[in-house]
Amino acid sequence: MISFLFSFVGLCQLNKLQELDLSYKLFQGILPPCFNNLTSLRLLDLSYNLLSGNVSPSLLPNLTSLEYIDLSHNQFEGSFSISSFANHSKLQVVILGSDNNKFEVETEYPAGWVPLFQLKGLVLSSCKLTGDLPGFLQYQFRLVGVDLSHNNLTGSFPNWLFENNTRLEFLLLRNNSLMGQLLLLGPNTRISSLDISHNQLDGQLQENAAHMIPNIMFLNLSNNGFEGILPSSIAEMSSLWVLDLSDNNFSGEVPKQLLTAKDLEILNLSNNKFHGEIFLMDFNLTGLGYLYLDNNQFRGTLSNVISRIYELQVLAVSNNYMSGEIPSWIGNMTSLNTRVMGNNSFEGKLPPEISQLLWLEFLDVSQNALSGSLPSLKSMEYLEHIHLQGNMLTGLIPRDFLNSSSNLLTLDIRDNRLFGSIPNSISALLKLRILLLRGNLFNGFIPNHLCHLIEISLMDLSNNSFSGPIPRCFGHIPFGEMKKEDLFARIRDSGYEGSRPVYAGYLVKYWGYSNFVYEQKDEVEFVTKNRHVSYKGGILDFISGLDLSCNNLTGDIPHELGMLSWILTLNLSHNQLKGSIPNSFSNFSQIESLDLSNNQLSGEIPPQLVGLTFLEVFSVAHNNLSGRVLDMKAQFGTFGESSYEDNHFLCGPMLKRKCNTKSEGKWYDIDVVFIASFTTSYIMILLGFATFLYMDPYWRQRWFNFIEECIYSCYYFTCDTLSKFFPYFVYN
Ligand SMILES: *[C@@H]1O[C@H](CO)[C@@H](O)[C@H](O)[C@H]1NC(C)=O
Ligand SMILES: *[C@@H]1O[C@H](CO)[C@@H](O)[C@H](O)[C@H]1NC(C)=O
Ligand SMILES: *[C@@H]1O[C@H](CO)[C@@H](O)[C@H](O)[C@H]1NC(C)=O
Ligand SMILES: *[C@@H]1O[C@H](CO)[C@@H](O)[C@H](O)[C@H]1NC(C)=O
Ligand SMILES: *[C@@H]1O[C@H](CO)[C@@H](O)[C@H](O)[C@H]1NC(C)=O
Ligand SMILES: *[C@@H]1O[C@H](CO)[C@@H](O)[C@H](O)[C@H]1NC(C)=O
Ligand SMILES: *[C@@H]1O[C@H](CO)[C@@H](O)[C@H](O)[C@H]1NC(C)=O
Ligand SMILES: *[C@@H]1O[C@H](CO)[C@@H](O)[C@H](O)[C@H]1NC(C)=O
Ligand SMILES: *[C@@H]1O[C@H](CO)[C@@H](O)[C@H](O)[C@H]1NC(C)=O
Ligand SMILES: *[C@@H]1O[C@H](CO)[C@@H](O)[C@H](O)[C@H]1NC(C)=O
Repeated sequence: MISFLFSFVGLCQLNKLQELDLSYKLFQGILPPCFNNLTSLRLLDLSYNLLSGNVSPSLLPNLTSLEYIDLSHNQFEGSFSISSFANHSKLQVVILGSDNNKFEVETEYPAGWVPLFQLKGLVLSSCKLTGDLPGFLQYQFRLVGVDLSHNNLTGSFPNWLFENNTRLEFLLLRNNSLMGQLLLLGPNTRISSLDISHNQLDGQLQENAAHMIPNIMFLNLSNNGFEGILPSSIAEMSSLWVLDLSDNNFSGEVPKQLLTAKDLEILNLSNNKFHGEIFLMDFNLTGLGYLYLDNNQFRGTLSNVISRIYELQVLAVSNNYMSGEIPSWIGNMTSLNTRVMGNNSFEGKLPPEISQLLWLEFLDVSQNALSGSLPSLKSMEYLEHIHLQGNMLTGLIPRDFLNSSSNLLTLDIRDNRLFGSIPNSISALLKLRILLLRGNLFNGFIPNHLCHLIEISLMDLSNNSFSGPIPRCFGHIPFGEMKKEDLFARIRDSGYEGSRPVYAGYLVKYWGYSNFVYEQKDEVEFVTKNRHVSYKGGILDFISGLDLSCNNLTGDIPHELGMLSWILTLNLSHNQLKGSIPNSFSNFSQIESLDLSNNQLSGEIPPQLVGLTFLEVFSVAHNNLSGRVLDMKAQFGTFGESSYEDNHFLCGPMLKRKCNTKSEGKWYDIDVVFIASFTTSYIMILLGFATFLYMDPYWRQRWFNFIEECIYSCYYFTCDTLSKFFPYFVYN
């Protein structure tokens, strides 16, 4: 990285310089004061760097030739008053914003200031604006694009901005706190992109909405409280290219007219209460590329009307009441790259034609009633995520099931009826990060070939019939060790590229488009801390775990496992492991959940384990361990008797069994301290939990259901039924 001050002192002498575009250069440091010398500057673009410090108002007053200024996506701090541009009469595009949430744009000081500029483009995204829209906008009449997303603007939808600016084409007010109904008062024929997603707007859509914004191309109303049925006139928005109504409370059937809008390319109706049969003969969205219908109440089958959509790339119908078989013509839809059909009632076999979907990247048909064997996924080179869990698939893993799927990141085939051993060819999946085979009938030894999967961060082989030893080479799988370059790349990529207005035309035609590029988020479930946890999206990069529980594994625990110093969860419970707990386990510097219970482990518990400062759940119960339980220090002060129970030769105050040592006098003190600290944390947890339940009616309901179920079933807690009763905690 280059320090900004150092390399640009020379630049400041170029006082004839007209355009300075230093975007995407990873510059750091502050804005050099000598910028004030660049008096001929018309364009200044410093976006996407790591500049910090204040944007001092004294920096820019001489730059009166400025037409275009972009300081967005830096690390600026403090407050900047936009009235310092008041006399920059040539200014046409202002783009401010910061990536660190520490930058604020002051718009109302001095009170009633009147700008000399007439802007065409204004972006004040993530600028901590509050209250009504900035007052100076009342003096703007030539605006073409306005982006005030990610602020805390309140009040109702600003119709006046429409009326004052007859050329307005883009209005992005995403992620604010606008309230009330969306009532468009006068027709605006220019507007092509309207994004008011992530606000608190509600009520029904007005019947004549289409007449108010007849040429709209991008309409994003997602994440509000809109309700009621969709007016059928919505189909009269004849230029509609993207329609996103997801995460609202819309109900009823989708108007037939909408299902024939031939220019529609993205239709997102996810997370509403739409019902009815959608794939009927009327369905003729032949231009569709992306179709999201997930989390509604749609019924019916995948009828062949879909096969008319030749360019469909994404088909998402998960969490509905769809049924019937998955038709073989699905193989004709060769553009598909994402198919998400989980949690419906699809039945029958997965058609072999599925392997014709050469571009498929994401396949999810989990939680259905599919039977038959695994299809061959040969020649599907681009497959990254496979979710087939929760079906009735049976048979062996075919040898060519995974051949050439060398880009695979996730393989989730949990809870089926698959059997046989893991084929050695699995080692070809060099990029695999998540391997979940839990809950099948797999047997045989765990192959050493798994150790070739050096990108693995989550591996769940539990609840199968694997036998033999744990491969020693498992210690060499990095299990989520974070690579520094990755972290840096993530910071660098975090901006939304593509939405940058271009100087020449000032505004890109497709300004709004970037907000509509959906990425299918991967989601998997994993047991940690005695709970089934569902992880979705980016958080998957930060978790790591190995679950070998509920198998028939024998032999010692290899001490090499201690090399997995990054692992967060390790579960070896319910096997027939012998020998002692390796001392090397004290290397688990990040571990949060360690379960070695229900084995035949013997010897003492290594006292060094007390150093595991992130451990939240620990169990060595039901073994044959001996010696003292660990000192009640640090995290180990929080583990009670149940972590150690049923080890006949273990001793310690907590187990009410005296050890044959001389330091007995101390136990009493320890107990008092323990009881005090335990009581405190218990009360804290209880309070926290009560607050959580009080605030969240959904979880409250689920918790009460859980308790109720427990009353009947807790006696029969076994390792495979445990899962069903615990609430699923969903992150992200
Ligand atoms: C900026 O301009 C002033 C006078 O116009 C000059 O004295 C100064 O050296 C210039 N600064 C730089 C860094 O060129
Ligand atoms: C703009 O110009 C007016 C009149 O010359 C002056 O009073 C005011 O201070 C100037 N504002 C800024 C921000 O420079
Ligand atoms: C622009 O909007 C402001 C605020 O509502 C209003 O006072 C003004 O009359 C409008 N100007 C025009 C030309 O409509
Ligand atoms: C959706 O509508 C139902 C009633 O139909 C209501 O109970 C619920 O609170 C609404 N949800 C939201 C997010 O507005
Ligand atoms: C579907 O739309 C296409 C193109 O708009 C048209 O040619 C075709 O006749 C329509 N099919 C049906 C069944 O409506
Ligand atoms: C799928 O493609 C095959 C071969 O190209 C063709 O015979 C069949 O009619 C197609 N099916 C559908 C439903 O389009
Ligand atoms: C897998 O593919 C490779 C070439 O990509 C081929 O050599 C090998 O024979 C294939 N294996 C199976 C089991 O099909
Ligand atoms: C474990 O192995 C024993 C003996 O080898 C066998 O009886 C038992 O069924 C196996 N258990 C499982 C879950 O496979
Ligand atoms: C370990 O696995 C068993 C069986 O799958 C499960 O019951 C237990 O909760 C897991 N332990 C932890 C700490 O998650
Ligand atoms: C349990 O451990 C004790 C010694 O600590 C040993 O004598 C005994 O044989 C062990 N029992 C089993 C079943 O391994």
